[in-house]
Amino acid sequence: MVRKLAAGNWKMNGTLDTLTQLKALVAIIEMNEDTDVLICPPATLLMTATKAAASSGIQIGAQDCHAETSGAHTGNISATMIADTGALHVIVGHSERRDSHGETDADIRAKATAATASGLTAIICIGESEAERLSGDTLEVLGQQLAASCPDTARSTDTVIAYEPIWAIGTGKVPSLAQITEVHDFLRDQLSSRFGPDGAEFRLLYGGSVKPDNAAEIFKARNVNGALVGGASLKAADFAPIITALQSS
Ligand code: PGA
Repeated sequence: MVRKLAAGNWKMNGTLDTLTQLKALVAIIEMNEDTDVLICPPATLLMTATKAAASSGIQIGAQDCHAETSGAHTGNISATMIADTGALHVIVGHSERRDSHGETDADIRAKATAATASGLTAIICIGESEAERLSGDTLEVLGQQLAASCPDTARSTDTVIAYEPIWAIGTGKVPSLAQITEVHDFLRDQLSSRFGPDGAEFRLLYGGSVKPDNAAEIFKARNVNGALVGGASLKAADFAPIITALQSS
């Protein structure tokens, strides 16, 4: 069975006092054997969050990394530096970075390669725009993004794929169960034909307006092994029921 993953992406939200939410989550959540829980706070909180979550079983990850290990890249953070904080994961290729920082699939592939080389798990995000969905190009777009942004060296043990339709992020709109299943089945097939038996083991997350009241329904979709949650991960009281829904799915 593929291990499940509930991942929270705090985006550019949170200062030291926000860690009360992480501590509240630690207090509420009962971890179980087949579901991992991850919080990705802003980079400024990585080290403190790692300490706050220590021994709770909740893991900490970053939201982006640079493809180089070090050098003249003002303002950037390398995967090695992220690993140095005790974080175990890094999100790469989130649509907000593809969009506002012009990141290409090649950039994301390089970042994912750097992440796994530093011992981090890379969470590679892909997703279609609303226009691509409406013109019937969803699977083609996702197939291209997956092929180009996931490195050949990726393994199910160090790489997670997150399907996040851009039109569902922060909008309250969610694809139907049939649409999510269609995409996740397609991604599973692509991974299996590219990586052989290991392709069946990659974790596939759904992301985009996952909330306490729709999580259980989304987790019914075949080949959905967890969620990447934005807004609803900011408060322990919202994220906890999503984690519970995943644990019991
Ligand atoms: P959302 O964000 O849950 O707020 O829609 C998801 C994401 O961007 O990862």
